[in-house]
Amino acid sequence: MALFRGLFDFFNDNKVDEKLGLTEKQKRLVQNTWAIVRKDEVSVGVSLLMTYFKQFPEAQNEFKSFKHIPLDELPRNKRFQAHCANIIATLGKLLEQMNDPELMEASLINFTEKHKNRGQTRQQFENLKQIILEALPSLFGKQYTPDAQQAWKQTLDVIFAKIYQVYAN
Ligand code: HEM
Repeated sequence: MALFRGLFDFFNDNKVDEKLGLTEKQKRLVQNTWAIVRKDEVSVGVSLLMTYFKQFPEAQNEFKSFKHIPLDELPRNKRFQAHCANIIATLGKLLEQMNDPELMEASLINFTEKHKNRGQTRQQFENLKQIILEALPSLFGKQYTPDAQQAWKQTLDVIFAKIYQVYAN
């Protein structure tokens, strides 16, 4: 019985989701590592966006409610904190929705269209993708194994490919 269960798990883990191109095991790796972030949405979001604004200062100008606030005061600003938590929560929702790829795609289209209509650019998304990728090793520490790294790279590629598709239409 244990052998059958082991075989079942093996095949199930390695089954590739055709829509996402990820295995069940990869989805789990991404979801499990994200659990670390979920415990601390505000501070992870703040650190991500601060890095983003430092590296790409023009991005801060997109935000009416905090574009005039000096960079070093932003981490204490509650509206900024709220937005940061919102981004992290949205990303987390997308990752949960990997179990229902069509739902994930619909969510991605929704939020990308809002950004596109508001004037944010594809390049701004590309820049943020790089910032996220660069932040993962320190966010996840020892849990960022080579398998986790590969799973994350593929996941971000899938998510951002959809975002770019919205920009192309
Ligand atoms: C994966 C990446 C991103 C996620 C998950 C995300 C998430 C969100 C969410 C949930 C909102 C609030 C709902 C809405 O109005 O759309 C929002 C608003 C906004 N986002 Fe993003 N966003 C992302 C990337 C970006 C990028 C690259 C920019 C460009 C600088 C940007 C700029 C904005 C602006 C200006 C608002 C409106 C803020 C306001 O005045 O209320 N976002 N974002």
